[in-house]
Amino acid sequence: MSRPKLQLALDNHDLSSSLAAAQKAQLQVDVMEVGTILAVENGINAVHIMKSLFPDHIVLADIRIIKAGGKLAKLAFESGADWVTVMSDASNETIEAVVKELKLHGNKDVQIEINQSFTSEQTEYWRSLGITQLIYHRSNEVVEKEVKWSPEVINELKNLADIGFQLSITGGLSVDEIKLFKDVPVYCFIAGRRIANSSDPFQAAKEYKEEIIRVFG
Ligand code: 5RP
Repeated sequence: MSRPKLQLALDNHDLSSSLAAAQKAQLQVDVMEVGTILAVENGINAVHIMKSLFPDHIVLADIRIIKAGGKLAKLAFESGADWVTVMSDASNETIEAVVKELKLHGNKDVQIEINQSFTSEQTEYWRSLGITQLIYHRSNEVVEKEVKWSPEVINELKNLADIGFQLSITGGLSVDEIKLFKDVPVYCFIAGRRIANSSDPFQAAKEYKEEIIRVFG
């Protein structure tokens, strides 16, 4: 099992505090996420600035595409995003438009964020388009009410990995919870507030990274 990446989700309203956290945590982090809130408040320029400051990191534009897939993906990729997010309940037409755009740009990727649920027809369809990345976000709304990671969910994740998906896990994820996924080939752990709002983002990110290494090697 290869070592999961660590993604820092930057969801602060203001760009300067997000960038400050990213600067501090950068050596521990593989993926810099321009979170939905940050992107809405600051526009796609936040992606451009993030990639300019962190050219060696993967930069994700978490713009949660639901419509206008081609136009939004183009905008994100042309602004420097390496990855872009699309919601699982976007239409096939929208998802295909994003895939078309990422092929046009080369060396880009898309993460499908599972919204409420999914069907095996959808997962088969996404795989048929060549999509590999899925985000499993605990909770439907932004984690005010955290739901525990149950054995059923862990099992579901294993099944998704078995059919070839690279899984990103998120939603109020704590360092202590990483070990719950020891039998799942997680591609990426995403942590936001616990790093970005910490008094020491470097140390907070280091704790995630060390736990990932301890659990996954
Ligand atoms: C919010 C998100 C967040 O970016 C993601 O859940 C990580 O943030 P946190 O660790 O603060 O929950 O997608 O919708």
